[in-house]
Amino acid sequence: MITSQKLLPVHKRFDIAFSHGEGMYLFSDGKKYLDFGAGIAVNALGHCHPKMVEAITNQAKKLWHVSNIYNANELNNYAEKLVDNTFADYVFFCNSGAESVECAIKMIRRHFFVNNQPQKNCIITFTGAFHGRTIATISAAAKKKYLEGFEPALPGFDNVEFGNIEAVKKAIDENTAGILIEPIQGEEGIRVPDKSFIQELRKICDEKNLLLAFDEVQCGMGRTGHLFAYEYYGVKPDIIATAKAIAGGFPLGACLATKDAASGMTLGVHGTTYGGNPMAMAVADAVLSVMLEKDFLENVKKIGAELKSELENLQKKFPDVIDEVRGVGLMLGIKINQKIEHTELVKKFIKNGLLTIPAGDNVIRILPPLIISLEHVGEAVEKIRLTLSE
Ligand SMILES: Cc1ncc(COP(=O)(O)O)c(C=O)c1O
Repeated sequence: MITSQKLLPVHKRFDIAFSHGEGMYLFSDGKKYLDFGAGIAVNALGHCHPKMVEAITNQAKKLWHVSNIYNANELNNYAEKLVDNTFADYVFFCNSGAESVECAIKMIRRHFFVNNQPQKNCIITFTGAFHGRTIATISAAAKKKYLEGFEPALPGFDNVEFGNIEAVKKAIDENTAGILIEPIQGEEGIRVPDKSFIQELRKICDEKNLLLAFDEVQCGMGRTGHLFAYEYYGVKPDIIATAKAIAGGFPLGACLATKDAASGMTLGVHGTTYGGNPMAMAVADAVLSVMLEKDFLENVKKIGAELKSELENLQKKFPDVIDEVRGVGLMLGIKINQKIEHTELVKKFIKNGLLTIPAGDNVIRILPPLIISLEHVGEAVEKIRLTLSE
């Protein structure tokens, strides 16, 4: 299919368009594709999940949008349900991952402003990070290729080496307000830091009176087999930004925080038109209800472990192609040998009916919907095996 020339040409697209989806599969020209990308960790309940379809259909007949100048039952109910299942006291709803990170950044700065330390306005971030494409989030991630031509970058970010605790300690000074980190880096190729690194960040933040913010836009909402990745590390952050899977495909972002971290976010200092709109709340509520069902997250852990071990078997069979298998739960990555361009392999997977997502570091991301069963693991492994043998 030819991409419309009327579209701003900023997205690189594979030459395929889907007509519809059902569960773990997408369909194009009558052919079925096993979706192991889930719209980059968005379609957590697969495609057209009946509970989501029911929720959005019912809501669409009742109420689509009311301004945040009014109350809304859908908003109140879902806020209570989400917050009660986390470390947080508050949630702010927005429309995307970048906006949720933006809220986290503003929250950190504002916390110290109202606590009479306005000089504490600098946030430590990490190499390889991806936080979105707004000016603040590209400044935070400080990746050259995303900043190029958009400079000047916003000041107030100190980018240090991912996983290097000494670099973090060295970067802290009287202006440091907090640390912003993806507990598992997604775009950079599923980089999982040591648990001790994340735990040490918590310790440092406590000792130095800094706020710890996790960007769980990609790794949050069930992907690791925990509702949020902080549970995997056994560490409670002060703030998390999340989006993607939160409403399984309906645009929604959320910034969750403790009362103390959010102490600067008072009447009128932040806002949004669409954030928390009844349609998004209805779908998100349906998604969370399913994720909280008994065994759902356990199943993510179980199937994730099985899938990882099958991928490791493939690595042993094809050591010239696969360098490494990485990840936690159903957030997995296959590092492809530098001799092979990973997007070429992704194209070959598509030909054989399997959808995966390229990432940095020549890694192919494996991010299936969380409703996956062992049969789907078998089907995917067979398709990968077949592609690699070819
Ligand atoms: C970790 C992380 N943060 C932020 C974002 C930005 O989210 P969005 O594209 O919804 O703005 C992404 C998107 O891939 C992400 O993976």
